Amino acid sequence: MTWYKVGKESSMKDGDLAKVKAGDKEVLIIRDGGNFYATSYLCTHEEYDLSDGFMDDHQLICPNHFATFNPKDGSVISPPEGAGDISALKSYHVKVENGDVMVEL
Ligand code: FES
Repeated sequence: MTWYKVGKESSMKDGDLAKVKAGDKEVLIIRDGGNFYATSYLCTHEEYDLSDGFMDDHQLICPNHFATFNPKDGSVISPPEGAGDISALKSYHVKVENGDVMVEL
């Protein structure tokens, strides 16, 4: 496992989502209040890019069919209506060090 510097804490506001490169992977960084989280960036329903999604009441929402995920662990809060079960997002460790946002992959 390696920690990658993926951005500056100050460059993201509450509710911002950013797709970043960490090594040879891309992940989604989520800022929710003072907390940062990292998940896989493709919706597990139909692979919509979640960096085009949004946060609402601490939930990550896919704008395509409104699946909602918990940004803390990637778990599914609710799948799109009528879609049946969908998989959780992958979740990664994040830390902020000296103003840098870092993700472990
Ligand atoms: S692609 Fe995300 S809810 Fe359908």
